[in-house]
Amino acid sequence: MSNATLSGKKILLGVTGSIAAYKVATLTRLLIREGASVRVIMTPAAARFISPLTLSTLSRHEVLIELMDEGNWNNHVALGLWADLMVIAPLTANTLAAMATGACDNLLLAVYLSARCPVLVAPAMDEDMWRHPATQRNLEQLRSDGVEWIPVGHGELASGLVGPGRMAEPEAILAVVQERLRKQGSLTGKKVLITAGPTWEPLDPVRFIGNRSSGKMGIALAKEALDRGATVVLVLGPTKVEVPEGDIQLIRVQTAEEMYAAVADLFPETDIAVFAAAVADYRPAERADRKIKRKAGELTLQLVPNPDIAALMGKQKTPRQLTIGFALETNDELTHAREKMEKKQLDMIVLNSLNDSGAGFEADTNKITILPAGNNPEEYQLKSKSAVATDIWDSIFRYFSDRLYT
Ligand SMILES: Cc1cc2nc3c(=O)[nH]c(=O)nc-3n(C[C@H](O)[C@H](O)[C@H](O)COP(=O)(O)O)c2cc1C
Repeated sequence: MSNATLSGKKILLGVTGSIAAYKVATLTRLLIREGASVRVIMTPAAARFISPLTLSTLSRHEVLIELMDEGNWNNHVALGLWADLMVIAPLTANTLAAMATGACDNLLLAVYLSARCPVLVAPAMDEDMWRHPATQRNLEQLRSDGVEWIPVGHGELASGLVGPGRMAEPEAILAVVQERLRKQGSLTGKKVLITAGPTWEPLDPVRFIGNRSSGKMGIALAKEALDRGATVVLVLGPTKVEVPEGDIQLIRVQTAEEMYAAVADLFPETDIAVFAAAVADYRPAERADRKIKRKAGELTLQLVPNPDIAALMGKQKTPRQLTIGFALETNDELTHAREKMEKKQLDMIVLNSLNDSGAGFEADTNKITILPAGNNPEEYQLKSKSAVATDIWDSIFRYFSDRLYT
């Protein structure tokens, strides 16, 4: 039996005009040896660094360079849909900048913009180019667009300088590709339910009690679960943040009671439920039919408790189901998060603290600590919410794959 790790996997290999392009011959050979189908796309500049003939021979397919070629056009959309993974190695500062802004003046960029698969990049450039704030800004943009990048190496550069900027070695890129594709299928066949966003609890036809949750963290989790092969339902409170069109089943709700009804309905069929919504604990006891008018004196609102969705699902879950919760705390964070995890019978809780700048509501970044039940907390750096989503799913996989797959 073949033990090729990439058997049947379809990889688009994008090559740009860096001196490190010569290493792509080795990378292509390694990918093919592991059983992958590889299609190479080069920028016109890349073709001056390594011959398309070399890469077409190694990949066993014609290398594509031109968007429009002697009256023909290369179908970038079809290529973008074909692949399981797109790898751009080496990635120049120039193509990085184009990707960060959405520019599209060559075939490689058109395919990048059309690709529905995950994208990995391996930057390569001189130290000063690498350190330039524009490069770092563009990389950060890519990261928050969901592109994973492989760290550059430190060492001798083509310019003669010694420092960071070298493209990762082909063997290291292969290892990241293998890991990424292994993860990609890790939720195949699993049903994932995610709640996200705030709830609005109406006082009258125009006013409500709400909170500042944007839903961005839950949407990032839904996207990542989809990339890993899950069937995903997202129950989303009122937010203006857009959900990527496509395969996520979206159920929009307003109030905690509506969210509860949707979750209770879906939960029995769910393998993993992630409760990332900021659900109002209380709602007004009464909802006025008409707008409440100003009157002299005080107005007292009476509030009644909302259903505790995570706790109620925790009570009814079977040993084959996982429930993951979130805690946003302002003091004694770990203690409160642990208490919440036990009370709601969660398998894991993700803590973010309002004491960390850049974490929590509305921001595009988050800084989390993951507490898996019965294990030590894991503290993470401040990252984009899509990178945080990767960490959370990695942790779920690490701690619970036994339970999910037995
Ligand atoms: C000898 C040589 C080596 C180069 N190496 C790099 C490199 O490693 N990284 C980089 O970002 N640009 C490098 N460049 C500059 C790019 O080739 C240039 O920006 C080009 O426009 C990139 O086009 P592309 O991104 O469409 O492939 C190099 C240029 C030359 C002449």
